[in-house]
This record gives sequence, C-alpha cells and structure tokens, in this order.
Amino acid sequence: MSAFKEPVVIHRGLDNVYVEESKICYIDGEASRLFYRGYSIEDLAEHSTFEETAYLLIYGWLPTTSQLEDFKRQIEAHRPLEPEILQLIRSFPYHSDPMDALRTAVSALGLYDPQPMPNDMEARVDKGLSILAKIPTLITAFERLRNRKEPVSPKSGLSHAADFLYMLTGKEADSYDVHVMEVALILHAEHEMNASTFACTVTASTLADMYSIITSGIGTLRGPLHGGANEAALKTVMEVGNVANAESYVVEALAQKKRIMGFGHRVYKTWDPRYLILKKLGEELAVKKGQTKLFDTAVAIEMSTLKHLEGTTIFPNVDSYSGVVFHMLGIQTDLFTPIFAMSRVAGWTAHAIEYLYANRLIRPKALYIGKTGLPYLPMQLRTGRAEE
Ligand code: CMC
Repeated sequence: MSAFKEPVVIHRGLDNVYVEESKICYIDGEASRLFYRGYSIEDLAEHSTFEETAYLLIYGWLPTTSQLEDFKRQIEAHRPLEPEILQLIRSFPYHSDPMDALRTAVSALGLYDPQPMPNDMEARVDKGLSILAKIPTLITAFERLRNRKEPVSPKSGLSHAADFLYMLTGKEADSYDVHVMEVALILHAEHEMNASTFACTVTASTLADMYSIITSGIGTLRGPLHGGANEAALKTVMEVGNVANAESYVVEALAQKKRIMGFGHRVYKTWDPRYLILKKLGEELAVKKGQTKLFDTAVAIEMSTLKHLEGTTIFPNVDSYSGVVFHMLGIQTDLFTPIFAMSRVAGWTAHAIEYLYANRLIRPKALYIGKTGLPYLPMQLRTGRAEE
C-alpha cells in the first residue's frame, strides 16, 4: 500500500512547471519568437557578437564600448590553460567523446582555483567568465591531441568565434566562416529553463561552486534529446545521403515510431526561430562551399517530415540545420555538442547568478509507491527479487 494519503499531481518532465521568475529569456512557442533580455534573436543574430550577447545575458544590458572592451579583455586574459590542465587533457584516452573530455576538464579547472567557492556574487560571475573563456581552448586542445597534433594557444585580438576556429585548425579562418560561427554561438547562447539550465540551477541552489554548476550543465546537455540532437540530425542527413532517399527514410522512421532528430520541441509548437536563421546561413554556406547535396538532402528530409507530420505541433528546431552548418565549416561531428556548451555557458552563468540572488534550495518530491514495513530477511530466506 502506498505510504501516501493525499492525492498528488505528478509533473512528469516538469512540463509547464515554473521554477523561478526570470528576466533573461522569453520564448513565445506559439508565435515563433525568442528574446534575450528583451532583444529579439533576429536582431542579435544580425547585429551582435557572441561577446556582446554573453555580456547582455550575464549583466542584463547591452554594453557600452568601454564595457565591451573590458569584457573582451577579461575573456582574452582567461583563455590560456594552466599547464596542469593541458597535461591532464594529454592524459585523456583519445577515443573519448569530446563532450566527456570537456565535462572532465571543466570540472578539473576547479582544482586549480585557489578559491573555488567565493562568497560574493561578483567573484562568482568572474569564475563563470573564466570558464566561458577557457571552453574553446579546452575543446580545441583535446581535438588536436586526439588527432596527434599539438594544441594551439589562443591568439590575442581574435573574437571568441575566430579564436575557436583558429585554435582548431592553427590558421585564421575566412571571415565568412567566422561570421557563421559567430551567429551560431549567438543562437545557442541561451534558451530559458531547458534541461541543462535547470541542472545548473539545481546545482547553484545548493550554493555549489561555478565549476560544479557548469559541469552539471555539460553533463545534461550531452544527451541526444537535448544538445546531442545536432550530431544525431547530421548523422541522419549523411545516412539518407541524397534527396531521392529522404521521403522513404521519413516514412519508414515514422512507421517505426522513431523520432526525426532536429524536429519537435517542448516549448515551440511552431517553427523554432533559430532554425530559420540557421537554414538561411546553411543555404549560403552550401553554395560557398559547394556542398549543396548535403544541404538539399537536409531540406528534403525537412519537407517530407513536415508533410507526414502535418496537423501535429512538430516542427524543425535549432538542431535541424546546426549540424549541417558546423559540418560545412569543416568541424568534426562529435564537436557539435561541445560547441553548443561553449555558447550555452553564457546562459548557464546568467541563470545561476540570477537564481542565487533570490536563492531557494531546489528540492522537489517523489511520490513513493513502494512498500513499507517489510521484515528484514536473513540471507537464507531471500528470494533474490523484489517482494510481490
Ligand atoms: N519525430 C517524430 N515524432 C516526434 C518527434 C520527432 N522529432 N518529437 C516528438 N514526436 C512525437 C512523439 O513521438 C510523441 O508522439 P505520441 O504522442 O504519438 O507518442 C509526440 O510527438 C509528443 O512527444 P513528446 O516526447 O511528449 O514531446 P516533447 O515535448 O517531450 O518533445 C523533444 C520534445 C525535443 C524531446 C522531442 O521533440 C524529440 O525527441 N525531438 C528529437 C530530438 C531533438 O531534436 N532534440 C532537440 C531539441 S531543441 C535543442 C535542445 O533543446 O537541445
């Protein structure tokens, strides 16, 4: 018999449960609108930079020239890795998933911080910024080492997007590629109370340090229903291979009740506005890189999916084209989710800090439906399975 006497409502998946008041991000999932701190994602993608967007998310306003310059200087100063961290990354098995390498490396950063648990909020923000600054260096160091190449140190004067591409290849990237990476970082920087942001918020609510908070976010982002969907979506496009195969792939997948990766969203019940921006960028990039076959296959999958799911609320999300875009930039598939983390760390930091200003330990409940009062059995009387 259940130990519970009162009727209880279970919010599986916490659908539509509000856990805080926030001024960071607004999604109108019915109207395909997304705002960071009141600014539309379309305006930010067109006019902003990742650094400016990160500043906006974390501090709450668009920076002045001097504020932005200071912010960029601070990030630049934090980009290099401690020799011990680089040594640690060298010791990682090269077959590891880069997301696992990133999660472990970010967690390890805390070991080399003499004061990982500051009392004041300003110091917490600084630690968030230092992690944000180091993530591209960590990702690219592991990527190069697993390809038997020496890591490339950050280059002074480059933007976050440009420096990431530089450290990845050892060469300064073409300005169009930097522009695409910049927009992709802006689009992924924040998305309200998604699973990884919630994980960060839960960890923050225990008053844990910023390294633990961001590590929680990275672990949660890893799964294929969240950040990992971008890799899965590209794999689908690659498997399908060409426009002619798209229709039969979609029909078969839906008949087998498989999910089409890059489609559907808990909040958007129509187009994800980030998808529209990425699709347009992808189209331009495909022409520039001569990879129209890949892009056209992604479009054919999208069209077939929309046709067969007509009448539902399943539409393309940000991941339907992000993988295709990153692939055309020459980036390895298993780096897509780490790149998502490299951007989303701005939103994670913003939410952790906002939550901490009015902190309340997050401690929900589980409705116990098991037994109580069972007699403790001596070894010889145990059945080796749960009691009926
Ligand atoms: N393809 C086919 N059917 C789908 C899909 C999809 N991509 N997404 C949802 N459905 C169906 C699902 O099978 C279910 O059908 P039924 O009611 O017949 O069982 C119905 O829609 C409702 O599904 P749900 O899982 O209750 O819906 P949700 O709000 O929990 O789904 C989701 C959100 C993102 C988990 C889901 O749409 C999904 O698995 N999508 C594929 C993975 C993906 O693209 N994730 C990226 C999300 S955006 C970036 C991010 O947040 O990281």
